[in-house]
Amino acid sequence: MSDKQDVAPDSTAARVALWRALHVEADPLPHVLEDKIGLKLLAPDEGWRSRGDMDPQFTRPFRASIVARARFIEDLVVEQAGRGLTQYVILGAGLDTFAQRRPEIASRLTVFEIDQPGPQAWKRQRLIELGFGVPNWLRFVPVDFEAGGSWRDGLVTAGFDDSKPAIVVSTGVSISHRGGERGHAARSRGPRPRIDARHDVPASVGAGGPRSTSRA
Ligand SMILES: C[S@@+](CC[C@H](N)C(=O)[O-])C[C@H]1O[C@@H](n2cnc3c(N)ncnc32)[C@H](O)[C@@H]1O
Repeated sequence: MSDKQDVAPDSTAARVALWRALHVEADPLPHVLEDKIGLKLLAPDEGWRSRGDMDPQFTRPFRASIVARARFIEDLVVEQAGRGLTQYVILGAGLDTFAQRRPEIASRLTVFEIDQPGPQAWKRQRLIELGFGVPNWLRFVPVDFEAGGSWRDGLVTAGFDDSKPAIVVSTGVSISHRGGERGHAARSRGPRPRIDARHDVPASVGAGGPRSTSRA
């Protein structure tokens, strides 16, 4: 990836958002997650359901893993918000829609979404066009993990208080990277992070304690 600054959705983020919508459309009740807002943001042609990577049967396991990890994180954030957590950081947020689907919880937090500048600008524009807006508690932090900057500095600039606890999540980001970006992202956390970080929670992982770290 690169110096891409196109104001357009990232294709991997679009795919998982469409899988979340397909879960609602193609999978039986009860749904693990009800999320069709990404589909609204993308507004693809009617033919999107015929795409090879949207085949309901073939993509079933991927879909299951995508909605399970999103639900796992969402439940954790809701639980921790109930215990007084005030900061939620989403690395490579893509078309995450927690802020739009759960405003009653999200508005009690400051939600920091970190993503590539171009796709993030596109998302901001679409949220405004569709009337969701970008409330003050939702902070967009444009960072390219591969460009050498520090996402932690970006967070602080956007109002992150590193003297307070936060949940930091990253799903689907490492697999879209090549090389040492994971290491780079980890170094950006700084020497003494006071954060609980969870990475790429797979569907099969049960909920550990709030201090456990798991990754695919
Ligand atoms: C597969 S999507 C996952 C989106 C979301 N976390 C989810 O699980 O639905 C990967 C995300 O990582 C972001 N990403 C990829 N490379 C990046 C980079 N170098 N810097 C910042 N974000 C990046 C993409 O823009 C995209 O939003």
